Amino acid sequence: MIHVWFILRWLHLLAVAFFLGGQMMLAFVVIPAGRRYGNRESLRAIAHRFGQGTFLALLILAATGTAMAFHFHLWSDGAFHIKLALIAVLAGLLIWHIRSPEMHVLEAIVFLLSLVIVWIGLYLANGYY
Ligand code: HEM
Ligand code: HEM
Repeated sequence: MIHVWFILRWLHLLAVAFFLGGQMMLAFVVIPAGRRYGNRESLRAIAHRFGQGTFLALLILAATGTAMAFHFHLWSDGAFHIKLALIAVLAGLLIWHIRSPEMHVLEAIVFLLSLVIVWIGLYLANGYY
């Protein structure tokens, strides 16, 4: 029988795939191609749509992550605290990025911070194995 916690981890990882994969797709595919062949409006529409998808992904991450944190007794785990703090910082940076899209340095910071959060997520699930 497929275990419910397996399904929650699967959902968590699907949301991570959208969240991080979408940023990689933006940074390495859409924006370089869009700058060359597209126009500002289509780039904005793509970024806007990605923002909506990311909002849904973050809701799924928070819901599945909270359930897993109870199940795996992680609320007093130091690494988990760091992950939660970094997610709060990320949320603030995302709001800043959306309000000031011309500040390109924020894109790089959001992307790098996302990589760090995924690192801590993997560490939480498996340790350094
Ligand atoms: C989860 C991370 C991200 C989210 C949720 C997000 C979301 C958004 C949103 C909602 C906008 C405003 C669109 C509008 O004006 O309606 C925007 C603008 C933009 N984003 Fe992001 N973004 C993320 C990460 C990134 C990354 C990593 C890059 C590049 C490497 C990037 C590049 C841009 C650019 C270039 C714009 C400005 C488009 C324009 O007005 O010409 N974003 N983003
Ligand atoms: C930006 C948002 C997030 C990202 C990128 C992210 C990423 C990850 C990744 C990659 C894993 C490893 C999954 C595995 O190998 O099974 C993970 C595990 C975990 N995440 Fe997240 N996560 C995010 C948000 C959250 C939130 C908001 C919570 C809780 C409130 C949370 C709680 C957890 C827990 C408890 C685990 C460990 C699950 C286990 O032991 O199997 N995550 N996360």
